[in-house]
Parts: sequence; C-alpha cells; structure tokens
Amino acid sequence: MSTSQNLFDVAAIRAEFPVLQQKIANKPLIYFDNAATTQKPLSVINAITDFYMQCNANVHRGAHTLADEATRRYEQSRDKVANFINAYDRSEVLWTRGTTEAINIVANGMAQRLKPGDEILVTEMEHHANLVTWQQACLRSGAVLKVCPIYEDGSLNTGMFVKLLTPNTKLVALPHVSNALGTINPIKTLTAQAKNVNALVLIDGAQGIAHGGVNVREIGCDFYAFSGHKIFGPTGIGVLWGKAELLQAWPVWQTGGEMIAEVSYQSATWGGLPNRLEAGTPNIAGAIGLGAAIDWFNRIELTALQAHEQRLIQHATALAREFSGMQLVGTAGTKIGVMSFNLKDCHPTDVGFLLDKQGIAIRTGAHCAQPLMKRLGLPGTARTSFSLYNTMDEIDQFFNALHKVKQMLT
Ligand code: ALA
Repeated sequence: MSTSQNLFDVAAIRAEFPVLQQKIANKPLIYFDNAATTQKPLSVINAITDFYMQCNANVHRGAHTLADEATRRYEQSRDKVANFINAYDRSEVLWTRGTTEAINIVANGMAQRLKPGDEILVTEMEHHANLVTWQQACLRSGAVLKVCPIYEDGSLNTGMFVKLLTPNTKLVALPHVSNALGTINPIKTLTAQAKNVNALVLIDGAQGIAHGGVNVREIGCDFYAFSGHKIFGPTGIGVLWGKAELLQAWPVWQTGGEMIAEVSYQSATWGGLPNRLEAGTPNIAGAIGLGAAIDWFNRIELTALQAHEQRLIQHATALAREFSGMQLVGTAGTKIGVMSFNLKDCHPTDVGFLLDKQGIAIRTGAHCAQPLMKRLGLPGTARTSFSLYNTMDEIDQFFNALHKVKQMLT
C-alpha cells in the first residue's frame, strides 16, 4: 500500500457527508455527479447554520455585536480564499455568485478595452460560460473570437495555441480543466505563452479548484474564477481573483450600497478594492460556508487526494475499455476523475435515467458545451465525475448497473 493510500481514509471522509448516507431507489446512493456540484461536509453545513443561529446581521454596516461578528466571519473567509490560492493581497479576492458572474465581471472590464480587430482566444473545450460571454463581447466590440482546436482525445492542440496568439490578442480565456472531458490544461505554460504577446489571461477554474494546488502567482494569470459549490461549499457564492492593478482600474460592475466612496444627488465616487466591485448586501452565509469548505479541504493531504482520484479514473477507464459498446469521450493523458461516455445504440438520457433507478447519479447531455459536442460529432454524453469520497467499489457497482442498463436498452 502506498503512502498516499495510508493518508487517505475514504470511509472517514464519507462519514462527514450527511447526503451520502441515504438510499436512492432502495440502494445506497452512488453520487457520480461531482462536476455539476460537490456534496457538503457537516462542517460547512454547520458554519452556515451557526451564522444564522448565532450572529445573523449585515456586514460592514452595523454598530452592534452581531454585525461585528458577522463581518469578522465574512472577512475571515476572504483571508482563507486569499491564502488558499496564494493571492498577492486579500483585496484581490472578490465575492461573486459563481464562476459565470466572475467571468462576466472580467467581460465588463474588457468592454472598455476592446476595439475592432482585437482578438480573444478561447478553446474548443469551453463551457458556455467562458464562450458565450466572449462571443458576445466580440459581437459588441468588433473584436474577433479565435478558438483553439483540440485533438480527438480531448487534449488541447498546444501547437495551434501558440500559432493563434498574435500581437492583437488582448485576452486568452481558457479552462483549467474541461467539465465535459476532464482534460487538465497546462495553464502555467499556456499563460507564459500568452504573456509573450502581452495578452491578459483569465482561467476558468470551476473544475480545477477542487483538485488541488491552485497557486495564482505560480500560474502567472491575471484572473482566476471559481465557484464555491464545486469545492464542497454552498451554491450562490464564487470568487473572482484578479491582479489588484487591473481590478482597481476596472469599471464598476454594479452600482449601489457598499461600493461607493461619496455620493451626492448628482454624482458618486467609487470605493477601493474589493468593495468597488461588490455592490449591495453580499451572500454573507455563502462566503462563510465557502471559508468553512476551504478549512475542510485544507485538512486533506493533496498528494493523497490526487492519487485517490487518479486511482478512481484509471480503474473506471480500464473497466470501460473492456465494456463492449462503450465509447469513451475524452481520454487525454492528464485528466481529473471525469469519465464521459456513450453506449452504442443507447441515448445518454436513457442511460442516466436507468442508472438513477439503481441509485446512481450521473449527468447526461451536452454539459453546457454544445459547440464541443458538435465538434466531436456527438449529441451529448453520459458523464460520471468522481470526487474524493467516491470508492473503487462504487465504480464496480456502477459497471454492474451499466450492464443492466445495456440489457434493458438494446
Ligand atoms: N458546469 C457544471 C457541469 O459541468 C454544471 O455539470
């Protein structure tokens, strides 16, 4: 047994997740939809409950004990995020509703900078959030959207990536990890190449954040966006990290309370970071929940976590290769625990439905990546996505269930 296996006690981890203790269709739930959202450990649920039970109040406004405590917990979470991703400064951590809103804040800032002839480079594996946003920004500004191709196995064509960079490239927006294929992109290298043409770099970290070791200084990017719910935190809270010199110059996103310095009936001036890009009462409980999720995640030994996830995907891939009629979609050399597939003569929706009847939760469809599915010539896929609380035994049970699905459908 390797050291990493010793350090990783899946049974103990599972015990911390109340939702995993239930039965669906009279069978212990097998939750393989972690790329859509991860489950929440008790410590996260408790942090949110405790906030509402002990110190619910608005932040930064009140002159009373509850408001002080709420503000302390809320701002402490910002520190936790800043440390977690190695931000230069806590003021670079902006709360958002999630990755999508974070990307839209970057787009709001880019709107001022883009002019006809400028270029934005994305990839063929984008989630709609990091595609449609830039497509629309280009339509509004006259900039050109360039799309870096992928290979058939779902890895990025890095040779073409370099070729597509030009002195006109103003922004490179790319996913850390593909949600539909699981491909891990070499974001540090790609960022360095984008910097050779002085492009800004935005990383969509929605699927990268929960698999460890995000260090924005090391990556060298300008923006990194992620959602709390993909890393064992609540929905409705996310983060835009950006370099302070950019965010400070960025036009304001929304106007209202919290983000101002001085207001008259005729005009207003804006506050400093992070407030200038955080108008209105924030998602206080969400931020506190995300802070608790980061505390929880920090307890897991990273190498052991990554080794566990690799064991899961390798085991699943090996069984898939032996499964007659199963086509794997996305087999890049560097992958997280995402296995997209199709069964010959079976519609992915039917596969998902019949797996649910056996207590197994997966996602089916285009995974918010319609152009990618078109590029691969597929209507969609069935997607299993594993997390740290999944087990080898669950994967074996999944394949047994899939055999039954195949018998029923063909
Ligand atoms: N983006 C999420 C997924 O891939 C919802 O399922």
